[in-house]
Amino acid sequence: MDATLPQDGRIVILTGAGISRESGLSTFRDADGIWSKVRIEDVATPQAFARDPARVHEFYNARRARLLAGGIAPNPAHRALARLEAEWPGEVLLVTQNIDDLHERAGSRELVHMHGEILKGRCAACDRVGAWPKTMSLESVCPGCGAAGHMRVHVVWFGEMPFEMERIYGALARCDLFISIGTSGGVYPAAGFVQEARFSAGARTVELNLERSHGADLFDAGRYGPASEIVPAYVEALLESASVRPRAMTSRRQS
Ligand code: APR
Repeated sequence: MDATLPQDGRIVILTGAGISRESGLSTFRDADGIWSKVRIEDVATPQAFARDPARVHEFYNARRARLLAGGIAPNPAHRALARLEAEWPGEVLLVTQNIDDLHERAGSRELVHMHGEILKGRCAACDRVGAWPKTMSLESVCPGCGAAGHMRVHVVWFGEMPFEMERIYGALARCDLFISIGTSGGVYPAAGFVQEARFSAGARTVELNLERSHGADLFDAGRYGPASEIVPAYVEALLESASVRPRAMTSRRQS
């Protein structure tokens, strides 16, 4: 597998809601997904928050409570990506669109939450961002400046700029392998990462998803099935390919 990938090759991984589905969290655009039950414009835009902040708090309070409920835990796909980071000889950057903390709980460290984190809160008065593992309301007080009524969940809404884009595009521009996991490829800028990796870096691109995504044709290869099965198998094969690579090939690159 991936015979052209250098042993110390740089890997960028993009994950979406599909990787957390087998942990018990909903996706967005599947038939039973979140956006089949609520409208984006009612809960996930700055305008929605300005119009009806209590409704937006309620939406994220329910999702936060679900994440923190007993029984929600990383699945084998999250754990496989943490293993890849620990054992792969080259750089691995994990970029997630997910606002849950299952990658951290699995042990991933080089991780960018481009759409923010539901377990953090941000104060609109002083811009402080900090842990917020509890219900948020119109009365919530900022632990930094003490102002009440200015807290919002630290997630990126539609119409807002995702976080750490410079770091992400920097990594994409020099990666050797780009892997997209559990995302429908329907939301930019993340949906455009495959083209960036392909055309800026000449990277090999692989999609791991339950089914072919909107952008499936943009990838060099695809593996399809539940993330908890296909991700550990892919990671195993990738690590195996690194360990069996003939030394002559790798020492040339290291010299
Ligand atoms: N294993 C692998 N893939 C799965 C699984 C599974 N068990 N279950 C579902 N999928 C796939 C679906 O086939 C779909 O292609 O995961 C993808 C989920 O797509 P979306 O629901 O659109 O989620 P995502 O791509 O993460 O959405 C992107 O949209 O609403 C915003 O901010 C939100 O970050 C989110 C962004």
